[in-house]
Amino acid sequence: MAPNIGISDDNRQAAAEILGRLLADEYVLYTKARNFHWNVVGPQFAQLHAFFEQQYEKLEAVIDEVAERVRSLGLPAPGTLAEFTKATRLTEQPGEHPAADVMIERLLADHEAIVREVRRDICTCAERLGDVGTSDFLTGVLEGHENMAWMLRAHLEGRRR
Ligand SMILES: [Fe+2]
Repeated sequence: MAPNIGISDDNRQAAAEILGRLLADEYVLYTKARNFHWNVVGPQFAQLHAFFEQQYEKLEAVIDEVAERVRSLGLPAPGTLAEFTKATRLTEQPGEHPAADVMIERLLADHEAIVREVRRDICTCAERLGDVGTSDFLTGVLEGHENMAWMLRAHLEGRRR
């Protein structure tokens, strides 16, 4: 049964596609944070191991919210790694085990990339699709990524002093 919520079918579909791409990005970044939680080495092991865990737990919560927002629009949420790998705008680096600093830089770059994409998507949803609900939802997602990016950036800034 199609939702009767004042958004055309085409626009609901377009908003769901925006959310689907974001879901793919979130999944790739979540996996990257888990990978780094497992594989980080060095004198800051204990601190970074825990820090990366905090970050992937936050991303796991975002993943669920994004997928359920797609369902609220009446569309099926993508739920396979094959779809996420195809749709993501982020890049994975299979087989690489970077130094701790590089791990932080890579996570930061991905968070910032998501922030830039979502910032555009917020306007598209509100102005072109008439979907202020998704626009508002994405604003919260953007703020979460800005917060996680700040924490990563703070690690790098501390080391350069
Ligand atoms: Fe663990």
